[in-house]
Amino acid sequence: MTDFDFESRIVDIPDYPEPGVVFKDITPLFDDPEALRAVVDSVADHFANAGITKVVGAEARGFLVGAPVAYRLGCGFVPARKPGKLPREVFSQSYSLEYGTDEIQIHKDALTSEDRVLIVDDLVATGGTAIASAQLVEQSGAAVAGFAFILELSFLKPRHLIAEKYPQEVFSLVKVG
Ligand code: PRP
Ligand code: HPA
Repeated sequence: MTDFDFESRIVDIPDYPEPGVVFKDITPLFDDPEALRAVVDSVADHFANAGITKVVGAEARGFLVGAPVAYRLGCGFVPARKPGKLPREVFSQSYSLEYGTDEIQIHKDALTSEDRVLIVDDLVATGGTAIASAQLVEQSGAAVAGFAFILELSFLKPRHLIAEKYPQEVFSLVKVG
């Protein structure tokens, strides 16, 4: 595990996207080559011996972290996309947002019962996206091996929600709150 200071690169943006919300901007971790390498290597090194065969990342920011982590692990990457974006047969999973619901999908043939899958995203807030991603893995007959995030908004208690359904490891480079 690197001793890279991830937290100092995350920028607080008050009142974005609406008054009262402090948005955590993690893009400085991507535009700096040293930071990007530290993010990808830290997640990949942590799961290097976990027998991961595929990484699943949710649109859009999950792609930014998931694909390079998959490359480093020597795994395939499977995108979980918003409805209507994948051209072949899909599994779908809806999940709750603060207001209303959303849905993500993966190709039916992207995972098999042989796969051990790491769910990767830039950030976990409520945990809804991560759980929906894990449910897509299960619909595919594959196994969820763990969850990895750059930033965990601990004050929203995503670990509690994830643990209700998945006892697998939740690994975050930075926790706030
Ligand atoms: C953000 C983030 C995670 C999700 C976390 O994505 O990248 O995927 O929210 O929130 P949750 O834990 O409450 O589900 P968003 O849905 O904003 O889409 P984007 O990546 O396309 O910006
Ligand atoms: N930053 C980035 N994405 C988010 C946040 C945040 O603070 N909250 C929910 N999604």
